[in-house]
Amino acid sequence: MTDRMAAQKFNLFDLPEDYYVSPQRYFAMLREHDPVHENADGSVLLSRYADVSKVWMDLSSSVDKTEMFTEKFGPGPLLEHHTHTMLFRDPPDHDRLRKIVNPFFSKKNVDRMEKFVADLGDQLVENVRKKEEFDYVKDFAFKVPMTVIAHILGVPREDAERIHEIGMKILFPLNPNVSDEVVREGHEAVAEFKDYLLQHLEKRRALASLDPEADIISTLAQAQRDGSEISDLEILHMCILLLNGGHETTTNTLAVGLLSLVNDPESLAMMRDDPEVGRTGPDELIRFITPIQLQGRRLTKPLEIPSGPVLPEGTEIILCPASANRDPEKFDQPDRLNLHRKANRHYAFGGGVHLCIGRLLAKMEISTILPKFLNAFSHIEITRDPEFNRNARFRGLKELQVKVRE
Ligand code: HEM
Repeated sequence: MTDRMAAQKFNLFDLPEDYYVSPQRYFAMLREHDPVHENADGSVLLSRYADVSKVWMDLSSSVDKTEMFTEKFGPGPLLEHHTHTMLFRDPPDHDRLRKIVNPFFSKKNVDRMEKFVADLGDQLVENVRKKEEFDYVKDFAFKVPMTVIAHILGVPREDAERIHEIGMKILFPLNPNVSDEVVREGHEAVAEFKDYLLQHLEKRRALASLDPEADIISTLAQAQRDGSEISDLEILHMCILLLNGGHETTTNTLAVGLLSLVNDPESLAMMRDDPEVGRTGPDELIRFITPIQLQGRRLTKPLEIPSGPVLPEGTEIILCPASANRDPEKFDQPDRLNLHRKANRHYAFGGGVHLCIGRLLAKMEISTILPKFLNAFSHIEITRDPEFNRNARFRGLKELQVKVRE
């Protein structure tokens, strides 16, 4: 089969096993031979940087999936969640909600959280130091966002693991072809999480004065007190969104990031001790990994894209930032991890109005935590073939067994 035929036959809903280990070969084929690829369900997969950019910056494209989710989830808390968060809402509702939480993710507030993250890094390194051989995903990477998010929500640290499990049950049904059981668990998980968060919201409301910079629940309670237009349901679903938005992405960046660095000793050495890399390195690592590999948009009017056709109104588009971020038309030597790369306008954090609100926090976590781990051990060895998850959207590692020596 020629590469062109292989590109045309590419099926996002029935991916070959090696795709999960190394999707870039498929992306290169699509960019070259079928950049406006029609998927089996009639949606269109865009893989070139210029096309992804055009859609992401198009203010008329929509994220509202009420119709699709109603059919997929049926009525209940799961549908309520995925139709109430700003991630799946268009302006003006999106902008109204984003404006309320935006200050919490400002540079000033993220800088304030740096000490908490640095202390957490030291503590996690100490925990694994005693082990010598361990699963880096479970024992290290996963614990970073889990603890940071409990901190930013303002809920007890002991609850972090449990709320993460609930969060996963809410996120998983977004994958294609999920079972009724997964959907049922999703509904139950949203109901349980809402009850849990409501108790914390009520506690904040009982306080005479609130510090909106302390945690997100206080930010949201204070906003309501000040008369901002936000309902109780919107508050609860915002908290769930923030838990899910920052979790898998950061874990996967820390895990695939370590794997990429161990496979590239020159970059690993730079990440350990090159001060210049502190500024450009985290962004480049995030470009290289692109933890959210696919995103959806629907056109609300016809759109002409650089690769050719005018896409009609109503087209469901699947954007592939993981491919756009390796497009040689945009990036010099795109498959090389170049921690000094400048003017790195990648799409790992998305673009347009939904640009990741947690990007400064994510970069701070990566640039604080990864060097701590790398500097604690002079020898880091991967002892088993890394196991990738089978998630085409949130690409990450299930497990990364490492052996370390000081
Ligand atoms: C390396 C880590 C991260 C990556 C790669 C990432 C990636 C992204 C991407 C691609 C989007 C855009 C989605 C779209 O356009 O449909 C997004 C949005 C978002 N992210 Fe992140 N994210 C990361 C970390 C975080 C963190 C730490 C948080 C918060 C704790 C967070 C919260 C959010 C939220 C709330 C949105 C929705 C914004 C909106 O709809 O306006 N993310 N993220």
